[in-house]
This record gives sequence, structure tokens and C-alpha cells, in this order.
Amino acid sequence: MISPAPTGSDILATPLDYAALSKEELRRRILRRKDELDAVILGHNYQRVEIQSVSDYLGDSLGLSQEAAATEAGTIVFCGVHFMAETAKILSPGKRVLMPDLRAGCPMADFVTGPALRRLKEEHPGAAVVAYVNSSAEVKAEADICCTSSNAVAVVESIDPDRTILFVPDRNLARYVQERTGRDNIIAWDGYCYVHDDMVLEELAKARSEHPNALVVVHPEAREDLLEKADEVTSTAGMVDLAGQHDAVIFGTERGLVDRMKEQYPEKTFIPLSGAAVCGNMKLNTLSKLAWCLDHEEYEVELDEEIRIRAQQALDRMLELSGGWSPPTEEEERLELAGVRPSGCGCA
Ligand code: 13P
Ligand code: SF4
Repeated sequence: MISPAPTGSDILATPLDYAALSKEELRRRILRRKDELDAVILGHNYQRVEIQSVSDYLGDSLGLSQEAAATEAGTIVFCGVHFMAETAKILSPGKRVLMPDLRAGCPMADFVTGPALRRLKEEHPGAAVVAYVNSSAEVKAEADICCTSSNAVAVVESIDPDRTILFVPDRNLARYVQERTGRDNIIAWDGYCYVHDDMVLEELAKARSEHPNALVVVHPEAREDLLEKADEVTSTAGMVDLAGQHDAVIFGTERGLVDRMKEQYPEKTFIPLSGAAVCGNMKLNTLSKLAWCLDHEEYEVELDEEIRIRAQQALDRMLELSGGWSPPTEEEERLELAGVRPSGCGCA
């Protein structure tokens, strides 16, 4: 039997105590507490399926930042990694932003720091800095404009073709953008995502030979040789859209997205390009930590205001270029009522 929803007195001490509760009870507590706190739960496409099922909005980095900028909720609970929660705080400074586990960072974002980027800028006076959103607030504050995997090409195309670009921190995304724009003046930071950079051609060849009719879609954080062999290169939200359009897809990205697509379309053939493509950082968020986070109103993301303002300028430029935010379509509204909003968020 399910116990009654929590009241102040049945708040438990640690996430471990919550882990002893059933999933159903955790879900019940989470939904009840979310209402009490006037909170919205934003979840990235790589989250565990159980976290995805209690998220009000699921999406890629662009959609999540647009949602964070537009939400009317007083508290944003971010189930993703640290730079994503930070981005929500940068865009919605008046709102409280909570994370279930502060250790959920992005190793790619850690490749570049504010001081290191400042040194590179000194070596290239006049260059424009494009910061992939997978970066800290301090790095964004040093950038002219941010980008995500879904708008990186458009962002770079918006910059004077004669101007040198310092692109941080993902070397693979930088190379992909360089190829798509034909620019030869992009200086890429030598960072990468261990999940995507580790995927290799042999895995792609094996998946293709086993599923010759499947569409191969690869995230632009993957290496050049993989992107060359892909039928499509797109962000996680782009992949969700493609999953709706095709009966068989090989996904060159983190497994969390594939798990959700399999649940959503059990009749389709969806295969992870690599069974090892798991982002351990994204998986640090669990239902029990989320329930603890809501009950204890921890961990709050805080930012230095001067850095926040400068970082916001770089993010705002990106959002303006990506069409800002617009209300959900009727179909999105219907799915929202059914429990989970789709990846699309009305952005251009
Ligand atoms: P998306 O913006 O495509 O969701 O990518 C974020 C990310 O961290 C991919 O590893
Ligand atoms: Fe960072 Fe890679 Fe994990 Fe995305 S999948 S959050 S880029 S480590």
C-alpha cells in the first residue's frame, strides 16, 4: 500500500533514507512537493527514464535554457549537469535554482577556465569568443556569444567572416562548425566530451551491418570520422524529432536518450551506437535525490552577480539568434497534459 503524501513531519534526513522508499512513493512526494514549492522540474534528454517521467519539460541545452528563461515558476529544479543549472540561474536570476546533486558536473566544461580563456584572448586581440553552453558561468562571461549543439553553425555564421573565432571548449563541435561554414579562422580549444569522443568507427560499422536499414544519427560532439559516416548530425532534441519520423535509428549519443525513445516507441528499432556511451555525471541524479532536494530545498545554485550579468549577455545574444521563446503548440500542450512535454519548445 502506498503511504500518504509527505507532510513536514515525514521529511527524511538523507538521500539514502529516500532510496529506501518505493518509486511510486518517491514520485508522489516529488509531485506534491513540487506544487507546494511552485517549482518546475527541467530535465535533460540524458536523464534516467524515472527522472524524465517526473520532469515538466525535457529537452536539449537550447530548449532547456529557453524554458528556464520563460518559466513563471518561482523555483527551477534542474536535473542535468551543473552548467545547465547555472545557465538557468544566469537567465532567471530572480528564481531559485536547485540541483539534486552538486557533483553532477560536465567534464567537457571543465576543460576551460576563465583565466585560461583570458590568456588565449590576450594572444588574439580582436577575436570573437564563442562559448559552447557546456562551460562555466565564468567562461561564458568572457565570451561574445554562446552556442549549443543545435545552433552552433548559425551562431558562427552570424560573426563577421574575417574575424578570428576562439571556440571553446569542444574541439569536435568546433571542427564540425568549421566544415559546415567553410571558415578557416576558427581556433578550437582542445576539450572534448568523453562519452562522445570515445565512440569509434568499428562500433558504427557493426551497428550498420546488423541494422542496414536504420538511420544513423550522431551528435556533433563525436569525432570527425564518425560524423562523416552519419546520415544526420544533430542535437539531442533533433534526435528526438528524428525518432518520431523513422522506424529504425542508430543513435550516436548517450544511452539515456535511447532508453527514453525505446519506451516512447516500443514498436520501433532503436539502437545505441555504443553500449558504453553513458554519461555518469548525468546519471548522478536519481529519484531519491530529487525527492530529498525538494524536501530540503537544496542544493541552491548561486552566482557572483558581476559574472552573471556578463554571462547573460552572451546567452541573450544566442537566444535572440535562435528565435527566443514562444508558447507551446497545441500538440505540445496535449503531450504536456499527458505528463511529458516533447523536446520542441517553440523555438525557431
Ligand atoms: P544537447 O544540447 O544536444 O542536448 O547536448 C548537451 C550535451 O551535454 C551533450 O553531451
Ligand atoms: Fe558533458 Fe559529455 Fe556528459 Fe554531455 S555527455 S554532460 S558533454 S560529459
